[in-house]
Amino acid sequence: MQRREIFAGNWKMFTTRAEALALARGLLEGLGELKGREVAVFPPSVHARELADICRGKIDVGVQNMYFEKEGAFTGEVSPVMVKDLGARYILIGHSERRHVFGETDEMVNRKVKAACEYGIEPMVCVGELLAEREAGDSEKVVGGQLRKAFDGITADQMKKAVVAYEPVWAIGTGKVATPEIADAMHRYIRKELAGLYGAGIAAMVPVLYGGSVKADNIAGLFASPDIDGALVGGASLKANSFLDIIHV
Ligand code: PGA
Repeated sequence: MQRREIFAGNWKMFTTRAEALALARGLLEGLGELKGREVAVFPPSVHARELADICRGKIDVGVQNMYFEKEGAFTGEVSPVMVKDLGARYILIGHSERRHVFGETDEMVNRKVKAACEYGIEPMVCVGELLAEREAGDSEKVVGGQLRKAFDGITADQMKKAVVAYEPVWAIGTGKVATPEIADAMHRYIRKELAGLYGAGIAAMVPVLYGGSVKADNIAGLFASPDIDGALVGGASLKANSFLDIIHV
């Protein structure tokens, strides 16, 4: 079975409304032949509704973060109901900046994954080790633990809609991309862990994206790995041309 290939742009806390619209239009104009690949963008949530309208049917829109409750007195948060309602397909969960800047725990990640599944939003779950953890030889232990906790209580059927993004924290925004060998080894490990949790059939279906300093000049080496099913791109997704060059690898 052919796994889905996804190229996703995480715009983080960048773009005014005008910049977001211009970036989306630039992407739509340059999409061209996608060879079955899927393209998604994660704009700041205040722009997501408008982008979902103009991107419909061509580029999937996701939201970068949400809370796990349906509604309530949670000032500043957005709920899964709102994310679904605006027409988003994906919710990014557990990005390293959420974990390390905002103190998101594995338990919160798990509650968000459960909320996404409950409300019909496809979770794109980020995992990845810190540099110190890699240097201590703990990368697999850390990533395996993040995976098991994130998907605790998630059924095999729900897992069919999930996407995993391996983003080594030391590679995010640093220009230090993981070598294809490092990324390939971790992606194979992630697939093995998923097979242990859900069986080989489900593990073979779940796209596992690489993220961390992906650029047009390093994507080909990474994407050559059969277990790397696309990329989650930060900085290089903020210019239409550089993201398009990655998508068209
Ligand atoms: P980067 O970010 O491509 O700028 O390293 C990746 C990410 O944070 O998703």
